[in-house]
Amino acid sequence: MKLSSKKALELLNSFVNKTEHNGWITHSICVGNSAGKIAEKLNLDVDKAKALGYIHDIGKGVGEFSNHVMNGYNYLKDLGYDDEFANICLTHSYLNNDINCTAGGIPKDIPFRTQFIKNHEYTVYEKIINLCDLMCTSVNVTLEKRLIDIMIRRGVHENTVYHIKEAQKLKQEIDNMLGFNVYNLFPDILDN
Ligand SMILES: [Fe+2]
Repeated sequence: MKLSSKKALELLNSFVNKTEHNGWITHSICVGNSAGKIAEKLNLDVDKAKALGYIHDIGKGVGEFSNHVMNGYNYLKDLGYDDEFANICLTHSYLNNDINCTAGGIPKDIPFRTQFIKNHEYTVYEKIINLCDLMCTSVNVTLEKRLIDIMIRRGVHENTVYHIKEAQKLKQEIDNMLGFNVYNLFPDILDN
């Protein structure tokens, strides 16, 4: 089953005031709206890009934040949504087909997740969501500011420099697709 951005936003908003804070919800709205802006410029499916952004962290609504990747995937699969929607819960935290290319230290090995990330061919939508995830707190911020924000909260780890370098490469890839600096789409970014 396809997931529209309207339904995705409904699912997201159903968790308002149901978890320890709503920060992940305002962040997810920022990711969806930002992804929509990029998708529009690339003549992609804007509604799909928004839907993926709205639900990428949905696992935070249904269990421990630390397990949100698998919980979100299982939640959307159980509701009957197509893989292209459920998969965003798995792919959004990991760059470069590598489970270790993530913020906040080396993740625990969940064999299904590790194999999925290794073998999955990232779609352009998944790349856009990964970049937008790294350009949104609850508002648009530069990649560098977001990465520093994550480092302050979650510390510096053996994979931090690797993740930063791959994040910068991802931004370059999206800039190249657009033909201009992605920050130009977000005029408030330097004020935030
Ligand atoms: Fe996120």
